[in-house]
Amino acid sequence: MKDFKKRLCIEQLLATTELKEVNSSDVIRGLTQLPKTLPAKYFYDARGSQLFEEICNLPEYYLTRTETAILRHCADEIASLTGACELVELGSGSSTKTRILLDAYNQLGKPLRYLPIDVSESILESSTHALLADYPCLQIHGLVSTYEIALEKLAPSPLPTRMICFLGSTLGNFHPQECDIFLLQIAKALQKGDYFLLGIDLHKSKEIIEPAYNDSQGVTAAFNLNILNHLNWRFEGNFDTDEFEHWAFYNQELRQIEMHLRSKRSQTVYLRALDLKVEFSPGETIQTEISRKFDLNIMYSDLQKRGLAPLKVWTDTKQWFALLLCQRQT
Ligand code: AVI
Repeated sequence: MKDFKKRLCIEQLLATTELKEVNSSDVIRGLTQLPKTLPAKYFYDARGSQLFEEICNLPEYYLTRTETAILRHCADEIASLTGACELVELGSGSSTKTRILLDAYNQLGKPLRYLPIDVSESILESSTHALLADYPCLQIHGLVSTYEIALEKLAPSPLPTRMICFLGSTLGNFHPQECDIFLLQIAKALQKGDYFLLGIDLHKSKEIIEPAYNDSQGVTAAFNLNILNHLNWRFEGNFDTDEFEHWAFYNQELRQIEMHLRSKRSQTVYLRALDLKVEFSPGETIQTEISRKFDLNIMYSDLQKRGLAPLKVWTDTKQWFALLLCQRQT
């Protein structure tokens, strides 16, 4: 425990007031436009992060176990391809999948330096403490931050290379334009020869995708509705979660899951901290998330365009999910 202090540093990059202002403009914009939307980042308060962990273990939610299996299969190869490198993980959460990579680098006798980035300080604290206990040579520099801020502020890596990991198909939660900007930010945060490890969920039949977002135990519904509790807490709102219902479907044309909250009746909600009154008609929805399902060839060319050349790709036998190791070219 004592040497944890030497091996761990957690840096807070989010001034609370700054965060509140940025957030509130998002919420006001989203709830005053038609159709109404909310930024998906609001899912992740403490309860939301816990519910997301539960989603990852649901039988219908194939994404996590498929990606984990691919990672188990290719982690040694990734470690020998990259050599000693600093692992930067965006949206690290509980860092479960990271352990597979850390084990692979450890086995090759490579120095271990890990930079997890997450907006939740409590999750970062608990996950990094658990990692330090299990990896006695690991150095951790955690950043409490959004992806954008962290990518801009990353200091040069003390190890020969850096690998930014973005797992779990979180890229799918970005709209195409946000995705473009994000890939540019990734390329900027890397030097020539550095790596980007990306996990993406692939397009497949709706019969497989839809149940993953409509599980039989109602965990995804609770996760979706919890965004309203989070807004109530953060902005002194009076959303009644019993008056909204979870609705998720696969939009075949856009190849994306769309997750909404549907108002059961006509109602008015007030967010006191924003002095914002929001009217809902019966059946009106708030879109809370999109989860895009990708085509591998299109993704190759999108990455290539940003100077992030795919070196190696691994998929599962059913081709449901893919892990791409890319390298910055210039
Ligand atoms: C974090 N992200 C990749 C998840 C997804 O599948 O799009 C979030 C999620 N939403 C509902 N279930 C899981």
